[in-house]
Amino acid sequence: MTKRLLTGLQPSGELTIGNFCGGIKQILDYQREYEVFLFVPDMHSITVPQDPETLHRRVREIVGMYLACGVSGEANHIYIQSEILEHANLSWILECHSYMGELSRMTQFKAKSDGKKEIGCGLFTYPILMAADILLYNADCVPTGADQKQHVELARNIAQRFNARYGETFVVPEPLIPKLGAKIRDLQSPDKKMSKSTENKKASIFLNDTEKDIRKKIMSAVTDSGDSVYFDEANKPGVSNLLTIYSVFSQQTLEQTQEHFQGARYGDLKKEVAEVLVEFLTNLQSKYAAVMSSGEVDEVLDRGRDYAREIAAQTYDKVRRLVGFGRV
Ligand code: TYM
Repeated sequence: MTKRLLTGLQPSGELTIGNFCGGIKQILDYQREYEVFLFVPDMHSITVPQDPETLHRRVREIVGMYLACGVSGEANHIYIQSEILEHANLSWILECHSYMGELSRMTQFKAKSDGKKEIGCGLFTYPILMAADILLYNADCVPTGADQKQHVELARNIAQRFNARYGETFVVPEPLIPKLGAKIRDLQSPDKKMSKSTENKKASIFLNDTEKDIRKKIMSAVTDSGDSVYFDEANKPGVSNLLTIYSVFSQQTLEQTQEHFQGARYGDLKKEVAEVLVEFLTNLQSKYAAVMSSGEVDEVLDRGRDYAREIAAQTYDKVRRLVGFGRV
């Protein structure tokens, strides 16, 4: 049977080139080999306050971006999490099979709650909803950036625990982390990952940035001391980040990129990175405009929803019987 691959990108901000590298690019690389489930985790987004109108808009836009990037809407199942009610239902059951201790160890929770007086419960239990997203479809592989690996490992633990107690029920999923671009860094603070919810807009390149903004942001990216260009993530995180971005968007290996920039200065590197991004993103944006003015997004989402509902209902029905809900 064809293996299943599943992932999602939250509509909690405009997508960045980091999201492309960790999430979308891997779908493009694997969509011919796997049965792909690609969804919009809108239920995850409300773990922090959202403006409802903006959230509605972003849900559509993100699907438009998936399609514009080259994710096939025909071959893959693309759907919205909140349209499949079993996500929340399964999440509750899994919550009752999870521990406070394991959730407290999630680094993303620690980072997002650090220094906050009022911490939403959703922020704490969110990795369980993510486990439900994955286990509901019995996904074999979950492609993500490095920041989500711990959450996929939690999903594995929960699946194994459930299987040990009730018998083989869930496929235990494998995280799929790209060799290159698993953590694209913030352009202004290269010690952090690039994020869609950053307050400093200069720190992230968004997939819908203008040519002028792309050039400005790359030219003002923080680099490291010294002036020679080589890859060394520990000592030269800023330069290594630019080399990584160049590699991914010019479709070259890191070795080819390093060779290409041998003897170059920071200024040369930045100009070429900006060039490669401008070419890629302006091309993407014209495809995106065409997708958004067609009826494709709704067609794809309707098809995806109907298919996902069937699979989700089968899994949930099995699980609810196993735990003893209802009248069998
Ligand atoms: P989210 O929306 O934060 O990120 C979407 C995808 O982008 C990756 N990513 C990055 N990759 C490289 N460099 C970066 N700077 C960078 N920033 C983000 C993320 O790792 C992710 O792959 N919890 C998830 C969404 C989710 C999900 C799921 C994913 C919900 N349920 C089930 C997989 C399976 C999230 O918040 O991703």
